[in-house]
Order: sequence, then structure tokens, then C-alpha cells
Amino acid sequence: MKALEEKILAQGKGIYPDIIQVGNFINHQVDPAFMNEIGEDIAKEFAKETITKVVTIESSGIAPALMCAYKLGVPLIILKKKASRNLSPNVTRTEVTSFTKGDVYDLSIADGLIDENDHVLIVDDFLANGEAGTGAIRLIRKCHATIAGFAALVEKSFQPGRQKITDQGVKVYALARVSEITPDGTIKFL
Ligand code: G4P
Repeated sequence: MKALEEKILAQGKGIYPDIIQVGNFINHQVDPAFMNEIGEDIAKEFAKETITKVVTIESSGIAPALMCAYKLGVPLIILKKKASRNLSPNVTRTEVTSFTKGDVYDLSIADGLIDENDHVLIVDDFLANGEAGTGAIRLIRKCHATIAGFAALVEKSFQPGRQKITDQGVKVYALARVSEITPDGTIKFL
């Protein structure tokens, strides 16, 4: 998506060798009109699939995933990283190790939200090493649903995430594919 590449170049910041800061419009401050365009773009890409639910991983994936779910006319489900007394105690969990953040967390979903009748689209902000996506795939498959694809706003193509997700038989769609961050912080696209 040309508009996302332009926005990354204009408002994002590359931190050599592997970090892209997009806090101005994705991770911290959110640009609603732009998220709307992004949601539309992802919904168009998967228009031929009969998607029943969109799934994201809290927190930065929520904004684009919500807009996409709205365009598709289906519910959004947010996979949780923290246990909460406010949610159902009956949950399905899987452990995720984030290489980018250097931490381990449990992803969970309340039982009954997704089942074997669902065809799910996963939407997240970044695809880096693909651990969060792999955790989401594991969780959705534990619920016996099928997966239409994994959409990421920004793919760091110099990291193994895309390969890891496609190796699991899941289509990857990335709106901006970053090939390199140069030592002076220049962000290059594939
Ligand atoms: P990982 O195994 O290295 O964690 O890779 P993965 O593809 O699972 O990374 C997804 C998580 O890492 C996301 O956070 C994403 O926001 C964050 N991330 C990875 N690379 C970058 C980067 O270059 N810039 C920014 N801004 N974020 C990056 P998350 O687990 O979904 O948490 P949250 O930040 O959305 O709460």
C-alpha cells in the first residue's frame, strides 16, 4: 500500500539495524482515517474468503483490525496477553516468546468465542519474527477454526516472520514490506 509506505517515510523513524518506530500513527497515537483506509485495503484483499471473524493480538493490532472487521461486517476478537478477573475463567491458552521484546507471555481466548464454524483472518501491526502470529494460529487451530490469512501493516522482510507463517500453511499479506534499515536510519522497501 503506497500510502502506508509514504506515511512510514514521512512520519516513521528507522533505528538501525531492525526497529521501525511508527508511534505517531500506529503504536501510540492512532490516525483513525488512515486506519479506515488500511482496514478497507485488507478487507479487499480477502474479499473472496467467507471470513466470519477477525482476530488480533493486543494492543497495537486492535485499531487496524477493528476497521477491517467493520468493513467485513464481522466481529473482532482480541487475543489477551494478561489474565483478567473480568473475563471468563474458561480460556484456551498458548505460550508466546517475543524475540523483539525479549519476553514470554500467555495468549488466551475465552472458550466459545471461536469454534469449528469459523473462518478467521488475523490482523496485526507488525510481522517480525512471527512469534505472535504463530501463537495466534496455534490458538485458533486449538479452537478448530480455519484461517484465511495473516495480514500485517508492516513486515520486516529481513526477519523470518513471513516464512514462519507461510510454513504453517497460512497466507501472508503485508501492506508495507521493509527490506532494510540502513545505518543512517533510512527505511527501504522491497
Ligand atoms: P517477535 O517474535 O520478535 O515478537 O516478532 P513478532 O512478529 O511476533 O512481533 C510482533 C510484536 O513485536 C508486536 O508487538 C509488534 O508491535 C512488535 N514489533 C516488532 N518489531 C517492531 C518494530 O520494528 N517496531 C515496532 N513499533 N514494533 C515492533 P505486540 O506483541 O503485538 O505488542 P503491542 O506492541 O502491539 O502491544
